[in-house]
Amino acid sequence: MPELKIAPSILASDFSRLGEEIRAVIDAGADWIHVDVMDGHFTPNITIGPPVVAALRQHCSVPMDVHLMITDPDAYIKDFADAGADIISFHVEAAKHPHRTISRIKELGCQAGIVLNPGTSHDDIEFLVDSVDMVLIMTVNPGFGGQSFIPEMVRKIQYVRAMLGDRDLEVDGGIDATTARTVIDAGANVLVAGSYVYRNPSYFDAIESLKTANV
Ligand code: DX5
Ligand code: ZN
Repeated sequence: MPELKIAPSILASDFSRLGEEIRAVIDAGADWIHVDVMDGHFTPNITIGPPVVAALRQHCSVPMDVHLMITDPDAYIKDFADAGADIISFHVEAAKHPHRTISRIKELGCQAGIVLNPGTSHDDIEFLVDSVDMVLIMTVNPGFGGQSFIPEMVRKIQYVRAMLGDRDLEVDGGIDATTARTVIDAGANVLVAGSYVYRNPSYFDAIESLKTANV
């Protein structure tokens, strides 16, 4: 199993103090910062774009994990790479030629992740998985923080772990100390957590409880 990493999602942070909120979770032990990009087309919500990522880069001393929930990832990956993204993940449901999108992300010097919506089978990435650095399994439907973990995703995590070997398998949505234990047991090693971290009075306690969920 690759190393366990905690990636707080800034979607649940105080948007009026984004830089400060990023530094605070890094000081509390965050391994990556997860940035949720929504376009109002692929998702029923709009969040942030490349200029904001560029502005936040200077506050972020750990890898920036950019999750594109947008209909046309190819049109924007260069902008996010230029803005300072370290990992760029896109939805297999959104890309016309996902294998090409993976190559472009790597050519831009970033790590490439592919994302599966809850309704998408692991079979859809069978012929892509050898090319990616990471698979992200959505454990809620994309669009909003604070939703409940979908238990059927546990089986998908097991399937994808078997396909991935020792590369990163990230999960996103409804992660708290209880679901963290379940997904780690199933094979996940990168845990995105928005509400659980940012709504906790102690970011340190929240991150620590996720890190020790498998002990
Ligand atoms: C959902 C986003 C998630 C979200 C997770 O569309 O991709 O990253 O912020 O939020 P929580 O941890 O609150 O479920
Ligand atoms: Zn996300």
